[in-house]
Amino acid sequence: MLDQKTIDIIKSTVPVLEQHGKTITTVFYRNMFEAHPELLDIFNHANQSQGRQQTALANTVYAAAQHIDDLGAILPAVVQIAHKHVSLGILPEHYPIVGEYLLGAIKEVLGDAATPEIIDAWAAAYGVIADAFIGLEAKMYDDNESADGGWREFKDFEIVDKVEESDVITSFYLKPVDGKKLPYYLPGQYITIRTSIPGVKNVVNRQYSLSQKSNDETFRISVKREDSLQPNGVVSCYLHNEAAVGDIIEVSVPAGDFYLEPTKTTPVTLISGGVGITPMKAMYQTIADVSPEREVAFLHSARTRSQQAFATKLEQLNAKLPNSSYKALYSEEGDGMFTREFLQENVIEGSDVYVCGPTGFMEFVIQQLYAIGVPEEKVHFEFFGPAVQLDLATV
Ligand SMILES: Cc1cc2nc3c(=O)[nH]c(=O)nc-3n(C[C@H](O)[C@H](O)[C@H](O)COP(=O)(O)OP(=O)(O)OC[C@H]3O[C@@H](n4cnc5c(N)ncnc54)[C@H](O)[C@@H]3O)c2cc1C
Ligand code: HEM
Repeated sequence: MLDQKTIDIIKSTVPVLEQHGKTITTVFYRNMFEAHPELLDIFNHANQSQGRQQTALANTVYAAAQHIDDLGAILPAVVQIAHKHVSLGILPEHYPIVGEYLLGAIKEVLGDAATPEIIDAWAAAYGVIADAFIGLEAKMYDDNESADGGWREFKDFEIVDKVEESDVITSFYLKPVDGKKLPYYLPGQYITIRTSIPGVKNVVNRQYSLSQKSNDETFRISVKREDSLQPNGVVSCYLHNEAAVGDIIEVSVPAGDFYLEPTKTTPVTLISGGVGITPMKAMYQTIADVSPEREVAFLHSARTRSQQAFATKLEQLNAKLPNSSYKALYSEEGDGMFTREFLQENVIEGSDVYVCGPTGFMEFVIQQLYAIGVPEEKVHFEFFGPAVQLDLATV
């Protein structure tokens, strides 16, 4: 445990570091990748180039430092990150590397203001934060390995089917090459896929939500082709255009703390935008399978019906379920987008609400949920990228 003096130094220097937060983490990544280019096989380059990962890591280090004498206060954030780390195969030996280059960057950016006393205090604090992650992640790896059908980091899967779900979304069915059964996962969880792509220098890693309920045979991911912005999405375009049945890719154990409790019977509202429909599909299918009497509302926003995945299957499930409602709005077909009034009418009172979609969509929806009185603890959401700070001031 840290002594009081160290804690005081940390807390009093957090605002200074916050002020330089992004510069420090940018310098940190630049220097770390220069010295350890092998880490480029783990990090997502698109997230790096857009600064999302820098911001996420900086925010977390400062939040953790602020609570250095009570890390339990930020446990939910630590758990969410640990899931992501474990899905990427981050190991204890990576932590001293990050620590060394983070402290180096603090020194470089703060210059003379970074006295030896301040640097020592931050080294000690980083050690405490890193130990919290390492401990949690060690347990997750052990649990993953010892689960029925489980493994530790990555293993080879074969693409056994490739199915177009809409104009922009295609599903990939993945089966373990070793022929073993799959471990159980919770609806809403994701996997990381890892592969080499001809012409791309580093190995690439991307997360994809599992878009069907847990079963022994196959994982299914449903991927949107990201080709509307320059540069085109590296992995999604590769999967759509090049990947074929019979190809082998590496897959992590399912991870993530965004999931529906399948054993509960309390009401649920599922709200998705675009490809954010994937975890919702697994949740809805699980409800249909495990607790068909459960009250559920499925609300989806897409540009057009031809871009929406699973439209017909969702309508069929809805027709089968006695306490379900399902509504899809197509913004380019005259339906408009979700409004506060629409949510007020369709979100089930007292329900747990699950939200997934583009960042702007989630920000709007969650603001409206709070505004219509849905309590914070009932709202669950997943980012399809590094978590960012949403502006959730109610409007
Ligand atoms: C938990 C989780 C679950 C997810 N589930 C799904 C899912 O079910 N389905 C799904 O389709 N996706 C899902 N994603 C998103 C997925 O992981 C990928 O981010 C997505 O497929 C895009 O990857 P890509 O390699 O095609 O694009 P990338 O190459 O990573 O590019 C992403 C975007 O960044 C832009 N970009 C890249 N480089 C730059 C640059 N230098 N400057 C400016 N812009 C740049 C690109 O134009 C593109 O729009 C999920 C993500 C997470 C974290
Ligand atoms: C105490 C130290 C660390 C902190 C506070 C931290 C924090 C974070 C945060 C906040 C995220 C984003 C999570 C999200 O997706 O929402 C993240 C992701 C990630 N972290 Fe860490 N991390 C630490 C150590 C490490 C180490 C040691 C490595 C490996 C070298 C690592 C590799 C990654 C990678 C590869 C991602 C995903 C990045 C992406 O998708 O672009 N982290 N981490």
